[in-house]
Amino acid sequence: MDKLLIRGGRPLRGEVQISGAKNSALPIMAATILCNGEAHIENIPDLKDIRTMSKMLEILGASVDFEDSRLIINTQHLTNNEAPYELVKTMRASVLTLGPLVARFGYAKVSLPGGCAIGERPINLHLMGLEKMGAEISLAQGYVIAQVKELRGANIFFDISTVTGTENLMMAAVFAKGKTTLENAACEPEVRDLADYLNSMGAKIYGAGTPVIEIEGVAGLVPSPYRIIPDRIETGTFIAIAGITAGNILIKGCRTDHISAIVEKMRETGIIITEEAQGLRVMAPKWGGLKCTDVKTMPYPGFPTDMQAQFIAMMAVANGTSIVKETIFENRFMHVAELRRMGANIETEDNIATVRGVERLVGAPVMATDLRASASLVVGALAAEGETIIDRIYHLDRGYEKIEEKISKLGADVQRVK
Ligand code: EPU
Repeated sequence: MDKLLIRGGRPLRGEVQISGAKNSALPIMAATILCNGEAHIENIPDLKDIRTMSKMLEILGASVDFEDSRLIINTQHLTNNEAPYELVKTMRASVLTLGPLVARFGYAKVSLPGGCAIGERPINLHLMGLEKMGAEISLAQGYVIAQVKELRGANIFFDISTVTGTENLMMAAVFAKGKTTLENAACEPEVRDLADYLNSMGAKIYGAGTPVIEIEGVAGLVPSPYRIIPDRIETGTFIAIAGITAGNILIKGCRTDHISAIVEKMRETGIIITEEAQGLRVMAPKWGGLKCTDVKTMPYPGFPTDMQAQFIAMMAVANGTSIVKETIFENRFMHVAELRRMGANIETEDNIATVRGVERLVGAPVMATDLRASASLVVGALAAEGETIIDRIYHLDRGYEKIEEKISKLGADVQRVK
């Protein structure tokens, strides 16, 4: 199992290029099931999760070619409509095949994802929506079986904003008879990106990116080349990296309109963020100069839960006490115990973390427990005195493309240990 060895304490300076968004790439890959032809998708990050989704599509009978951040997926001859447990258990986003499979074949058998390190994460809302569209849902031996003669448009209200739930039902509705309305839909830019992709192939989706999405069913889609949006969470993570290391980084290729909540919070901590012709310039205060700041995670356009762990790592060395409230997932503080091993002073009670800033973090052996928790350990380690060894970084490889290459170019002392 690979580990990451980081000797912290260097200010990170230079330029970094942001990769394509993992959470756009995954639903868009699943959406190729609907297009019955050859899909060309660009700006795909080279990540473990992308390989897993490719494998999933191959199991369904697609051919997948991935080179130089471009994916070519041919879904003309799909032969299977079952997403097996072996893959779904390694990546919950595999459940995104459910909507498109039912839409294309009227039948799908997809393993239930089960619990996850950060929370229970049920898919009841995905299933509720499919049922409203006329699908018969049954559960057998850990699998969801959805079948229907013809999906029909429906009014669907989400009582909780769900990103993949909105995406799954939007994909299911593309061929449904009549109009589907999704209310209290997730507004994340990745939902909008998926809709833009589907619309580029002839779908009729209106309002994606707002809480009300309307989808008029169409008879078919015609493949069209597409380039996915940059990763806003990777962007935020690099702002945190600059912030905690007293760095100065030019972040290139990001979408500033997708990260307003992150930028505003980071500014409150004393980081100066300005737009330049080539990207976003992030200038941090000197060592010890970060200000404590409270934050509450919220669905988009609020502060993303996927940035909470990295923000806590920053606040661990800020002046004063920060209160961090996690409102999306019930168990997303796994990084706290690891940051404590590095000298952080953080207490958690229910969904609230009280972070009392310390002068310095100190390197220690730590363990990554999920993707964003791993990112927070990298953020902490880069500022810590001495050596940090982060174990189980396969979590990091699921969501951060060439992370050690990118931070090493910025001046970090980092090494992957096999
Ligand atoms: N929820 C339900 N029922 C459902 C669906 C969701 O109760 O049927 C609850 C969840 O348990 C959670 C809340 O609703 O408490 C929001 O979950 P959501 O469904 O929005 O999460 P997701 O779609 O499973 C995506 C991202 C996550 C990101 C969340 C929140 C993808 C592939 N994953 O997950 O990304 O944290 O939205 O923004 O898009 C990551 O990249 O590290 C990651 C975990």
